[in-house]
Amino acid sequence: MGSFVLLLASLLSAWTLFSGEPVHVQALDDGVARLPVLGYNTWNAYHCDINETVVLQGAQLMVSLGLKDVGYTHVNIDDCYAERNRSASGDIVADHVRFSSGMNNLTDQIHDLGMKAGIYSDSGWFTCQLYPGSYQNEYRDAKLFQDWGFDYLKFDNCAIPYDDIIRQGIVGKYQRIADAIAQLAKDTGKPPLILSLCEWGEEQPWLWARRFGQSWRTTGDISPDWGSIASIINQNSFIAWASDFYGHNDMDILEVGNGDLTYEEAKTHFTAWALMKSPLLIGTDLSNISDSDLSILKNEEVIAINQDPVVGTSVTPFRWGINPDWVSNSTHPAQYWSGESQNGTVFMLVNTLDEPANMFFNLTESPWIRAGRQYSVRDLWTHTDNGTAVRNFTAHAVPAHSVVALLLKDAGDEPPNSGPPCARPEWCINQNGTLGPGA
Ligand code: GAL
Repeated sequence: MGSFVLLLASLLSAWTLFSGEPVHVQALDDGVARLPVLGYNTWNAYHCDINETVVLQGAQLMVSLGLKDVGYTHVNIDDCYAERNRSASGDIVADHVRFSSGMNNLTDQIHDLGMKAGIYSDSGWFTCQLYPGSYQNEYRDAKLFQDWGFDYLKFDNCAIPYDDIIRQGIVGKYQRIADAIAQLAKDTGKPPLILSLCEWGEEQPWLWARRFGQSWRTTGDISPDWGSIASIINQNSFIAWASDFYGHNDMDILEVGNGDLTYEEAKTHFTAWALMKSPLLIGTDLSNISDSDLSILKNEEVIAINQDPVVGTSVTPFRWGINPDWVSNSTHPAQYWSGESQNGTVFMLVNTLDEPANMFFNLTESPWIRAGRQYSVRDLWTHTDNGTAVRNFTAHAVPAHSVVALLLKDAGDEPPNSGPPCARPEWCINQNGTLGPGA
């Protein structure tokens, strides 16, 4: 029996070799980055204007402002930390002036603060700002990043080699870095770098990127205005099913605290990103953040849904609202959403109108609600228990571009005579075959 299994195994691996099929890295279900990554990223606030002081101050503020305490763990450096050219021996070199103390010094200090450190590279010849990319240097660079003390790698999609050089599609291109990271982990016995794919513009990454990384970008670069937020929510509403443990739709760095987002818009932005299980990477200058923006980023009840250890899936729309279901509209995305959580059913209502609105739904419009039961209502923004919902719920006067986030918990059988005997009347039928009231 044993030798038969062995024979089968070697035949199978021979087939794999001869068939020329790529040998896939398995989905990264190795306990690394099971949940969306929470942290800080330098790009949106600073672009190329970064140095070790900026990064370290960001890390220190994550701690002193209490962001670390509510679950943010990563301090991630984005593009522009390197010299323009590799060293004579072929390594990426940290900018001598802006990172003069060296990367090890910086990651040591980040680790001393109890946080993890992230770095950035690119799958092509160059990064988007034309610093060295990692194409054909994937293992060398992954090793350098690990030697520098980094735990996490964002991998971008600029300056891609011609097809007649790479002879690989997009999947093969990202396979290179995933293989390098897996090999490095094997060679060093250290945990693999968490890989965050930044493969914007590629076809349907949610179908294939899960096997390589903890997240993949679903949309182009965010900007700090409501139009961008609404458009990203709209695009992600159709693929929200793709996020789950170990693999997350990355809706891009948070703009809370940036640009001209109102308080209500920033709340909606943060809620949608969190409940859709996107990584939550703070992208603002923390030395300048307002108390109200900080309170958004520190909403522990919303973060708890994002970091739910039992349920990995996202909220999904059950009714688009202003538009018929499944209609794509970048200014008026889906409005009525729900999803499971370890503590009950989460509801997210988005008022996409430019004026306040009442928002009404029947509880059983959500697949996660049981008919014939009543539900206690917790408001995740006011942090209050708002009584019990029977059959339906109305959020009154939701401000323009604002959001309502609720957690509904089963509170037992609904009171007698709460309404017709079926919440969905069309096929509400008696045992003897006669239709019930309301049918
Ligand atoms: C873009 C990426 C941004 C940022 C930038 C750096 O491609 O989407 O998040 O990393 O490159 O140049």
